[in-house]
Amino acid sequence: MDSSNEGNLNFYDLHPKPADFFAEVIDGLNKTQKSIPPKFFYDKAGSRLFDAICDLPEYYPTRTEINILKQNSDEIADHVGAGCLLVEPGSGSSHKVRLLLDGLRPHAYIPMEISREHLRQSAEDLGGDYPWLDVHATCADFTSTIRLPYSPEGIRKVVFFPGSTIGNFEPEEATRFLQELAGLVGPNGGLLIGVDLKKSKDMLHAAYDDEQGVTAAFNVNLLKRINRELGADFKTENFCHQSFYNELLGRVELHLVSQCDHTVSISGECFSFTAGESIHTENSYKYTIEEFQDLANKAGFRPQAVWMDDDSLFSVHYFIPP
Ligand SMILES: C[S@@+](CC[C@H](N)C(=O)[O-])C[C@H]1O[C@@H](n2cnc3c(N)ncnc32)[C@H](O)[C@@H]1O
Repeated sequence: MDSSNEGNLNFYDLHPKPADFFAEVIDGLNKTQKSIPPKFFYDKAGSRLFDAICDLPEYYPTRTEINILKQNSDEIADHVGAGCLLVEPGSGSSHKVRLLLDGLRPHAYIPMEISREHLRQSAEDLGGDYPWLDVHATCADFTSTIRLPYSPEGIRKVVFFPGSTIGNFEPEEATRFLQELAGLVGPNGGLLIGVDLKKSKDMLHAAYDDEQGVTAAFNVNLLKRINRELGADFKTENFCHQSFYNELLGRVELHLVSQCDHTVSISGECFSFTAGESIHTENSYKYTIEEFQDLANKAGFRPQAVWMDDDSLFSVHYFIPP
């Protein structure tokens, strides 16, 4: 593991490997329904595009979750308690944690991200704005076993997992992931997690297919990234962004749909596409409060509190291990 230290900022590189990117893309494109895991959206450009999505008028989850965190920060601080080691998998720009830091005064903060450059910049910005906070930024893939680079004896661990990133997992994978988090925080830890709620199809369709085409650019950036990093020859004009709510499965799906019959090469490996065939790039599962509490319960967490907005668009839950 590479690590560096500057002032209150420590940076650990647990090296998600380029070889894994290649292997997972090839594996996904060899499936009957071609797919690529959503974690590969997030290179530097992808992380910037995701931040732009968060600012879109149609994208209700970010502003709704931020309002929930702001309006309930005192109660959240009472539940979470002061002085914990606060771990945030998929921390992105570390914007939301800022709403909690003054109330929680954590012992230290561990943002954990796959998007290396974005993590470095966000952690530097945060460390600069909060000189009292020890930041242990960790570049890692949270779908591999989570290893904390810093975990002092006797300090409670609390995981903060906002943004409904849990919705990107299949429900069974989500249960396994929460089980891992329960093991990570231990018997006296906690989990503060943001979960998007079931709602009207129209609102979901607008949120994932905005008028400005930012979500489409985010989806297509995946192909540009594969071209840049894996020596592929995707012609992005041959693919269209598609998103829809699959009501039966309770998830929004993102696809890249081929507009014609054609072949793509990735470092010499060839893949044929027929017109209308898609690459499935993301799921975003939506839950009711009860569905999510059941799922967390299966993973060994007990509900302690849940906060919502007045329109019941989004939820923030606090769970503890039994
Ligand atoms: C939906 S965004 C949420 C960002 C932020 N937590 C928020 O609430 O706005 C998901 C974040 O998780 C990161 N991410 C996705 N898959 C990951 C993985 N397997 N390991 C580590 N980070 C991951 C992405 O880079 C991105 O920043």
